[in-house]
Amino acid sequence: MKVSSETIKKRISCRTYSDRPVEDKVLKALTASINAVHIGPFGNSPVFKLITPVSATNQELKKPGTYGIIKNARMFLVGTIKNARMAMEDYGYCKEILILQATALGLGTCWLGGTFKASEFAQAVDLQEDQILPTVSPIGYPAEERSLTEKIMRRVAGSDHRKPWSDIFFADDFATPLTRGQAGKYSEALENLRLAPSASNKQPWRLLLDTAKNTFHFYLSRATGYKFLGLVFLQDIDMGIAISHFEITAREQGLIGKWQVNTNAPKEKSLDYIVSWQSEI
Ligand SMILES: Cc1cc2nc3c(=O)[nH]c(=O)nc-3n(C[C@H](O)[C@H](O)[C@H](O)COP(=O)(O)O)c2cc1C
Repeated sequence: MKVSSETIKKRISCRTYSDRPVEDKVLKALTASINAVHIGPFGNSPVFKLITPVSATNQELKKPGTYGIIKNARMFLVGTIKNARMAMEDYGYCKEILILQATALGLGTCWLGGTFKASEFAQAVDLQEDQILPTVSPIGYPAEERSLTEKIMRRVAGSDHRKPWSDIFFADDFATPLTRGQAGKYSEALENLRLAPSASNKQPWRLLLDTAKNTFHFYLSRATGYKFLGLVFLQDIDMGIAISHFEITAREQGLIGKWQVNTNAPKEKSLDYIVSWQSEI
């Protein structure tokens, strides 16, 4: 199942679900995608499962914390991956493609990272010692109306807003914002990257276009708060998600390129360099 720029624009987090069971043919299509082999751009292979937690119908989901804000979810997309270099980027990339496929099928989703109670999910997917279960996502038809908690949550995270281009995209140095004109045929790919979901809507991605070489260097502006909470990996997942939005859109626009970790990429004190997209046309 192919996902498109249109699906990227349609996706928003859903935290309030309808009672309506997911139609058989929709479930079949989604399960086929989930059960396929997934390989990220850095060679890691996450594994995904759609599960119905035993407690989905009782108390566990009503507890405060992350679940407190998710209402009525019956199914969860659970993904695991072996700990390795760039594993979290690959995890974000592959899972976002599934999230977009669910969106294209008319389903609501929400990334949940860090604060969820992993034990039940770990059991359901038979989590091995060398595997990590970084996030889960409820999946189902959105309810007609968002719960009050969800409305507050969106307001607090500023979920309807994204940083302006000038804060996140740069040309040749980090003091020079990249204009849409300079981005040219890549503007749609950048716009869709900007729409990517990110933990607490922090939008930690920063891009530097090397105009001479037609190469985009991708960096993370890491939030210090996540270090204290032991949640640094969430922003690597954010990067993987952003990379998927960029690549899906670039391909749709007929743009060819490849991902390369480039040891000569410019360094910037406050940013972590992750990868570069080398345009090939
Ligand atoms: C890695 C990751 C972890 C997230 N964790 C949570 C979470 O624990 N609870 C929650 O309600 N939303 C979570 N979100 C959803 C973000 O808050 C949401 O994507 C962001 O506010 C933008 O809103 P949108 O997805 O509706 O565009 C997470 C998103 C990502 C990408």
